[in-house]
Formats: sequence, structure tokens, C-alpha cells
Amino acid sequence: MILTSTLNELREARSGLLNPVGLVPTMGFLHEGHISLVRCAKGENESVVVSIYVNPTQFAPTEDLKAYPRNTERDLALLENEGVDLVWSPSDQDMYPPGFQTWVELERLTKFLEGSYRPEHFRGVATVVSKLFNAVQPQRAYFGQKDAQQAVVITRMTQDLNFPVEVIICPTIREADGLALSSRNSYLNPEERRGAPVLYRALSGAKEAFESGIIDSEELHTHMLEVLENEPLAEVEYVSVADLETLEELDGPITRGLLSMAVRFRTTRLIDNMIVGVDH
Ligand code: PAF
Repeated sequence: MILTSTLNELREARSGLLNPVGLVPTMGFLHEGHISLVRCAKGENESVVVSIYVNPTQFAPTEDLKAYPRNTERDLALLENEGVDLVWSPSDQDMYPPGFQTWVELERLTKFLEGSYRPEHFRGVATVVSKLFNAVQPQRAYFGQKDAQQAVVITRMTQDLNFPVEVIICPTIREADGLALSSRNSYLNPEERRGAPVLYRALSGAKEAFESGIIDSEELHTHMLEVLENEPLAEVEYVSVADLETLEELDGPITRGLLSMAVRFRTTRLIDNMIVGVDH
């Protein structure tokens, strides 16, 4: 496994890789969710590149950039074990050189859901992912369905900017009790960790309700809120039933949609989602 840091090192190592190349962009502190993306990339490409970069521009000043968990040694051991060909850990200097002022922004998709609580977040994500695509020049790139809005935003951006990259969205990986894997789960204390699967219960309950014929979006909202309200540690930020493509909130009866939510456990913000009405 080749380790690179500077852009020149990356470009030189990249030129020696067999195509197609699959890229798995990460912020490190890897878990089984990331590893599932790597395995998916391994199965579909000649070479796999993983980037590890905690991107400062997708965190608001009030968010957890400084506290974001890091363990590069462990990450590298996991990636080596998976047979990854190349790891790129760029510096802030390379990603945001002095005088940096060029951003990638999406007009509408980023206004809803996560975007209404984290207004700068997707500008940071879209910009850094564009830079990763430009530098690594992968044929395919892999992201998790856990960050549903990010998946829609990156898919749109890739089409809009004509990146010759196939964006592949892989299923959410969950703990045995349903909690979606996330690096931020490490912030939860034992009591909060016991409460956290309530997101999964709320989503899967609403999905079951939808499948049994309750297709009114208001009723699905209520269903999710009622489950969340039973967990005293959970502070609901939003619950949503949205259009799968536009991410706009849906009214009345639906045939398909994205059920999603953000819930705080003290200072830890958890998000999760499920799609209804579409066969996977
Ligand atoms: O999903 C993430 O870990 C990040 O948002 C990403 C895509 C690596 C961009 O920093």
C-alpha cells in the first residue's frame, strides 16, 4: 500500500495504478461502514484509492472539527488489511492554499434537511469532493447511503460538472441493535448509546407502516415522532418525509420517499434515513 501526502506524490503514485480506479473518500476514524465501501470498490475496480482528510470547510465554527476523532495508525492498518493500493492524506495547505476562493455550491438541494441546520456544510463537501475527484481522477467513487443528502448532492454535482466519475451509493451498515455506524457514535456515553437505536426504531416503524398501507406523509411523520418521544435522551432536530430527487418535503399520500431525521443526544448529533417505495 502506497502512502501519499503531497499532491505531487499522489499524482505520481496515481499514474502507476491500473484503471479503473475506485476512490473511497473518508475523514478517517474508519469503521465497518467505510470498510464496506472499500470492499465494494475492490470488487469493481483494478485499483482502490482511499483519501483520509478531515475537511475543515464542512464544519461550522460551532461544530466538532477539533474534537473529530482521529486514529491514522489504526486506519492505515485496516486499509492495508483490505488490500487498498493507495492512501492519500492531503494537508490543509494543499487542499486550501493561501488565497483560496473557489467554491462548489448547489443552489437548491443543499437548502433542505441537513442544509437548513448546517448552512455551509454542503459547500464544503461539494468543494472538497470536487478537489478529490480532480486530483485522484477515479473512474468510480463510493459513498454511504447513511449520509443520504450528501449522496444526492454529490451525484448531482458530478453530473452538473461533467466529472467522468460513476458515483456509487452503498447501503448503510448498522450495529446489531440497528444504530447506523458513524465515527460520531464514539462521542456517546453508555446511557446515550443505549438510547441511540431509537432512530432506527422510528425509521423502521414508519417504513413498516408505509408497507402496510399508511402512505400519508403526515401520518408517517407522526409515527416517527411518537417513537422518538419515548426516548428521554433524544432531542429531535427534524423528522422528514422528502422527495428522493429534489429533497423537498412531501405532503399527502406518497408512493416513494426519503424518511430521515437528525436527533441530538446531548452534544452528539445523529442522523439516519430509510427509503420507502423503491426496491433495492
Ligand atoms: O462522508 C464523509 O466522510 C465526508 O463528508 C467526505 C465525503 C469524505 C467529504 O469530506
